[in-house]
Amino acid sequence: MAAEPTSVLVIGATGALGRPVVRRLRQRGVAVRAACRHPDLAADLAALGAELMVADLTRPATLASACQGMQRVLAAAHGLLGRGRWRSEQVDDAGHRALIQAARAAGVRRFVYTSAFGAGPDHPVDFFRTKHHIEQALAASGLDAVVLRPTAFMEQHVHLFNGQAVLAKGKASLVGPGTKPRNFVCAEDVAELAVQALLADPPPFRRLDIGGPGHHSNHDIAALYAQAAGIPLRVSQLPAPLARAMSTLAQPFHPGLARVLRMLSLPDTAFDEHFHAAAELQHRFGLPLTTVEDFVQQRVRQARSPRATTT
Ligand SMILES: NC(=O)c1ccc[n+]([C@@H]2O[C@H](COP(=O)([O-])OP(=O)(O)OC[C@H]3O[C@@H](n4cnc5c(N)ncnc54)[C@H](OP(=O)(O)O)[C@@H]3O)[C@@H](O)[C@H]2O)c1
Repeated sequence: MAAEPTSVLVIGATGALGRPVVRRLRQRGVAVRAACRHPDLAADLAALGAELMVADLTRPATLASACQGMQRVLAAAHGLLGRGRWRSEQVDDAGHRALIQAARAAGVRRFVYTSAFGAGPDHPVDFFRTKHHIEQALAASGLDAVVLRPTAFMEQHVHLFNGQAVLAKGKASLVGPGTKPRNFVCAEDVAELAVQALLADPPPFRRLDIGGPGHHSNHDIAALYAQAAGIPLRVSQLPAPLARAMSTLAQPFHPGLARVLRMLSLPDTAFDEHFHAAAELQHRFGLPLTTVEDFVQQRVRQARSPRATTT
């Protein structure tokens, strides 16, 4: 069996996915270079023994330095909500093309790219079309390429954008009716697969859709939090036409916010978020995938007792 690689660069090391990947790699004794724009926000990663390096996808010179001497790269950053020089076109498109080029120039062997479930050339949201274009650029690069395609992360789409407000204010704020069936996956579970993609030789897959068990609407999620917290559910809804109008107004000065408002105001049928392969994933990778119900229970417990650890 080949020895494990000794060095991995993680771009987006401070993100919901990057952090648990760094933790897992360090637990296995792999040398990790954690790239971030604000090292002062990454003291926890330094404490794990990761090397912190300032790198910005919009500054190619920093990518060249970050890739130097690295055997493998995980791209786990994005600019979905970005604006100005960090707008999505600069970070998700040009920035990732520059990263692929820097990795090639530095002799990086394997490049693991975090795309997204449903990414494709005809997706109604530009961000998902960009993900598709970068998948294509990576395939053409000659690098040993692996692509992760996760559904929405529970850490953001279940907790941060929804349940957190139920716990803090007793009220969910939904855009539109919140009825669309969606699939969510815990970033910790995606991290486990990312680590396998980075370390195994050969990688256990080349391009993998990743999702969690079951489907829930945003309204269901808010109700689960209220039930788990033992409080009545109150919901405010921003009507979809109003969200679309706000998106148009926001476009010139905050394209990231405009994108998210537009995406949330699309009809439920605009793009499919069903994922039906969770049982197969669990079986194939021996991975006990986190359920939304367990995730919510755990977040509610943590909110009551902030010292409790999160998954
Ligand atoms: N969240 C989801 O629901 C979801 C679903 C499917 C796929 N994905 C993909 O999974 C990957 C990880 O997402 P995430 O949710 O873990 O991210 P996240 O928590 O939103 O964090 C974003 C990360 O990107 C980094 N970043 C942003 N702009 C950057 C730039 N210009 N240069 C370098 N780094 C930059 C941030 O670093 P700083 O510390 O410097 O700000 C941060 O580490 C992304 O590719 C994302 O598109 C996410």
